[in-house]
Amino acid sequence: MALYSDKVMDHFQNPRNVGKIDDADGIGEVGNAKCGDIMRMYIKVEDGIITDCKFNTFGCGSAIATSSMATELIKGKPVEEALKLSNQAVVEALDGLPTHKIHCSVLAEEAVRAAVKDYYDKNGIAYDPEELKINDCEACEMG
Ligand code: FES
Repeated sequence: MALYSDKVMDHFQNPRNVGKIDDADGIGEVGNAKCGDIMRMYIKVEDGIITDCKFNTFGCGSAIATSSMATELIKGKPVEEALKLSNQAVVEALDGLPTHKIHCSVLAEEAVRAAVKDYYDKNGIAYDPEELKINDCEACEMG
């Protein structure tokens, strides 16, 4: 059996929404100290809906595939819904990832949360800090 699903390969080779949004409403950057990969996520928000989303990932193929899928999953969705995006949902949407690559999907989940947190901070929107805690070390330990 192939190590990576067709969907992972597709999102790695043809990543969706790559780039930068110059006037982004929220930018989230997260990294995994263990593997050194860095993910940056940009969101544009209108009336509480994520109207656009782009990413730049300096990392492995799985990190690129998971960030690509994460942008697809949150685009057009309310901000609160994007916050609920779990790394598991990203992995499922990609038809799975090898166990030692699960931490790459954690990075994608955290990049989305970091972008939303930045949006909330910039707009003075109150949130529960616990809910929006970005825990890089958790990702490291899973690596
Ligand atoms: Fe670090 Fe994939 S190996 S994010």
